[in-house]
Amino acid sequence: MEIITAVRGFKDIIPPETDKWRHIEETAYRVFGAFGFREIRVPLLEKTELFCRGIGETTDIVEKEMYTFFDRGEESLTLRPEATASVIRAYLEHTIHAAETVTRLFTIGPMFRRERPQKGRYRQFHQIDAEILGPDDPRTDAELILMLIHFLDKLGLAKLNLEINSLGCAKCRPAFREAIVSFLGGRVEELCGDCQRRLGTNPLRVFDCKVDKCGEIISRAPRLMDFICQDCRDHFEKVQGCLSLFEVPYRLNAKMVRGLDYYTRTTFEVTTEFLGAQNAVVGGGRYDHLVRDLGGPDIPGIGFAIGFERLASLIPDRDQDVSRGPLLFIAALGEKAGERAFMLCNRLRMKGIHVEMDYAGRSLKSQMKRADRLKCAYALILGEREIEENSALLRNMHESAQEEVCLDDLEEIIKKLAR
Ligand code: HAM
Repeated sequence: MEIITAVRGFKDIIPPETDKWRHIEETAYRVFGAFGFREIRVPLLEKTELFCRGIGETTDIVEKEMYTFFDRGEESLTLRPEATASVIRAYLEHTIHAAETVTRLFTIGPMFRRERPQKGRYRQFHQIDAEILGPDDPRTDAELILMLIHFLDKLGLAKLNLEINSLGCAKCRPAFREAIVSFLGGRVEELCGDCQRRLGTNPLRVFDCKVDKCGEIISRAPRLMDFICQDCRDHFEKVQGCLSLFEVPYRLNAKMVRGLDYYTRTTFEVTTEFLGAQNAVVGGGRYDHLVRDLGGPDIPGIGFAIGFERLASLIPDRDQDVSRGPLLFIAALGEKAGERAFMLCNRLRMKGIHVEMDYAGRSLKSQMKRADRLKCAYALILGEREIEENSALLRNMHESAQEEVCLDDLEEIIKKLAR
């Protein structure tokens, strides 16, 4: 019979890759915790309307990439394509905003987008998502970016590129939109079909187009930066000033519009040449109207999401083996020794010590081979004779030295070795 394989674009994460993932998660918990972030866990499934309203009806995500279905014909539901909308839904539903003026939340988990699978792009992928709700002070933007860079640095990824831009606000965006529409209006014939449509629905999205011809036209288009109002300009300058205080290197990228509609003012991406076409590891920005657009009060926000798979692929393999082998392998010979080994093995495990043994009754040689393969630090050799003498041989696998130990003292000896 043929085996059943995973769905295209859905990937298993298996050991030792999971060790690397845990290392990344633990680093995130530590770093984010010091910056005042607390964890939130939200469902994978939401009402479709949340993403239509949050991300924008005319974005690629909502138009083409969502896993949407009718739940037994009753209600349209969607597997979350991102976390921001869900975090804000929960923030409003639990009136977290009433209890505090600044809320810092993060969440780690799977997201779903029906994109064409390729290296670095999956249909189920994971994000580390962080959001700050409440303040619109530019120091908040800088603090969030600083935390992100510090986190990447802690993972040994200091050489990534940070690109920042400002997308202006509701006051300055209409003038830019007009300028874009009139610039592109004169070149409609040259644009791809999608962009011709976008021109009428959401002209900013033309900046996202991956078609070469459209990219070339856009490279000559007016720049949003030339249209932003004085308030937005001051805000952006302060963000940059704060980043410079911490000597965070960045590059201005006036062409970056991000693929979701909710952004205002500061936006940013972390990219790298090492990922080929899928070069964005992190995307984020300010969204000062999203909370209101989702039915809440006028509360500004800013956040980012790190692509977990892309991040993990940048961490060198030699760092992968963050977990060590078991402390002890118990090689038992004969039935009585096997019984004693079974007791000992599981008693030590319950004390939090990683111990392995073999139930197959193999030869001493093959049991020792297994201890070696598992990279055990010690092996305990327990035979019938040893049981009778209430003793065992404890072998240091790295130094190939061994000593006889009394079985009554064994738990204490092993516990000492585990310290
Ligand atoms: P995004 O740019 O759509 O932003 O996604 C963030 C990151 O998720 C990307 O930079 C990439 O690393 C990863 N990613 C996206 N799609 C895929 C995929 N198909 N396969 C693998 N990785 C992928 C957001 O999602 C916003 N919610 C970020 C945000 C939070 N903005 C404010 N707060």
